[in-house]
Amino acid sequence: MGIVGTLVLPGDKSISHRALMLASISNKKSKLINLSTGKDVSSTISCLKNCGIEINKNGKDITIQGGSLRDPKIALDCGNSGTTIRLLTGLLAGQGINATLVGDKSLSKRPMRRIIDPLMKMGVKISSKNNFAPITIEQSKMNPINYHSPIASAQVKSCILFAGMGVQGLTQINEPFQSRDHSEIMLQHLGASINVSKDGVSISKSDIQNPIDLTIPSDPSTAAFFIAASLMCKDSKLTINRLLLNETRVGFIKAVTQMGGNIKFLKTWVESGEIVGNIQVEYSQLKGITIDENQVPSIIDELPIFAILATQAKGVTVVRGAKELRNKESDRIAAICKNLKLLGADIDELDDGFKVGGSSKLRGVSLKTYDDHRIAMGFAVAELVADGDINLDNPDCINISFPEFFSTLESITKC
Ligand code: S3P
Repeated sequence: MGIVGTLVLPGDKSISHRALMLASISNKKSKLINLSTGKDVSSTISCLKNCGIEINKNGKDITIQGGSLRDPKIALDCGNSGTTIRLLTGLLAGQGINATLVGDKSLSKRPMRRIIDPLMKMGVKISSKNNFAPITIEQSKMNPINYHSPIASAQVKSCILFAGMGVQGLTQINEPFQSRDHSEIMLQHLGASINVSKDGVSISKSDIQNPIDLTIPSDPSTAAFFIAASLMCKDSKLTINRLLLNETRVGFIKAVTQMGGNIKFLKTWVESGEIVGNIQVEYSQLKGITIDENQVPSIIDELPIFAILATQAKGVTVVRGAKELRNKESDRIAAICKNLKLLGADIDELDDGFKVGGSSKLRGVSLKTYDDHRIAMGFAVAELVADGDINLDNPDCINISFPEFFSTLESITKC
């Protein structure tokens, strides 16, 4: 069996959320092409509509008539989306909006103290259910802060930057390791008063005067599932075009290349400040590697499929410093380890990661997805190299990021 063909994938989820939010406060009409098709981004759209923003959707393309946000009449439902609740809370606070933000069962269990603490330091009147959603913010007199984030999190960083855009004075933030920098790139591109240096990021009060006209590049976190499938299946040759290759997002591609994966960069270019390119992946015999704490932010969302790939590599693979994985849509360290053990893989669960002992033949069994889209897609790919079927309890949770996952995988799987 081989993975053969050429793909252009729906737009990057992180960029899609940010473009929608920033277009909402621009006083011009913006156009976004190839927006992420996942439910998470639909949650952002519906929250913004409830704040009075006119958004029209035509397939993957969208127009946004930005302007002044207004207080929503109902609670803003962020669904399953951590990026929606954390970034929007910052954006709305900075724009002086009164709002309550809620989420589904999984989102309501994810930590919000990481944004509540800095926003309170900025003077935002904010209440929550013991530092979990629902979160309520009230219009407040805000002040700038100089924040040293204890964790490398683009959601925390972006929340503070978006809030800081509405505040007089210099809001500064730094983090222990570099997290994804799409907010910084987009804000710079839009002419905001933002400064990025090796010491951190700072922003002062900025109005967005320009529209956003953007064709969003293919999502590398979605691409990772197809890259892994191609590396694992003999006779594979897959091209992925218009792929986002931002340095803070290529941890997976770098790691699998280090494992011996054959990935060619056919062409790269820059669009709206982001690196984009066409790549080609072929089946490869892989060897184990070690991923350290400083590499984790650039591979964080790809670690479930990376663990699965490591069960097909020769030698030991270790991931450390990835405790944040326990705070995602599910406890991903537990979900990966439980499921891979059930498949017969040699894997040890660590407090902050996992250790895969080497190559194993996987068996077909029934698995829980833990209602987590990246766990579901990862184990659907594992089935390609397993003896027998892998039955997932909730395959529909893939809709959170990539509803077209199964049809896309089928279209490139050649027997
Ligand atoms: C995201 C940041 C990351 C990532 C998430 C999307 C973003 O989360 O895991 O899927 O768009 O800013 P953290 O900021 O919590 O690391």
